[in-house]
Amino acid sequence: MTISLSEVLSPGLHEVHRAVRRGDVDEVVLAGGRGSTKSSFASVELVKLLLEHPECHAVVLRKVANTLRTSVYEQVAWAIGALGLAGRFELTVS
Ligand SMILES: Nc1ncnc2c1ncn2[C@@H]1O[C@H](COP(=O)(O)OP(=O)(O)O)[C@@H](O)[C@H]1O
Ligand SMILES: [Mg+2]
Repeated sequence: MTISLSEVLSPGLHEVHRAVRRGDVDEVVLAGGRGSTKSSFASVELVKLLLEHPECHAVVLRKVANTLRTSVYEQVAWAIGALGLAGRFELTVS
């Protein structure tokens, strides 16, 4: 299965995606209202960067601990699925 990144990433963020890919930036602050695909974008970029740099690890931080599972964890799991990579990741919750 081939997943087109342009379908997964919303058009407004394509230029940010290119800047990340070029290595031009090492920090991105995503602005925009609720539903502007900030979380989707960040999670897809995270999973892509992990695949491209297998020597790297990633950490996702959230201020509120008791919603980790239903927020950032689910978001990253969503990105793995959106990229068609469910078979390549093991999702654990320890
Ligand atoms: N490329 C896309 N095309 C269409 N819908 C998308 C795309 N990326 C994300 N979405 C959807 O947009 C909605 C809001 O995205 P989300 O990333 O949660 O926004 P934000 O973090 O800015 O509030 C989600 O339902 C998500 O599935
Ligand atoms: Mg969000």
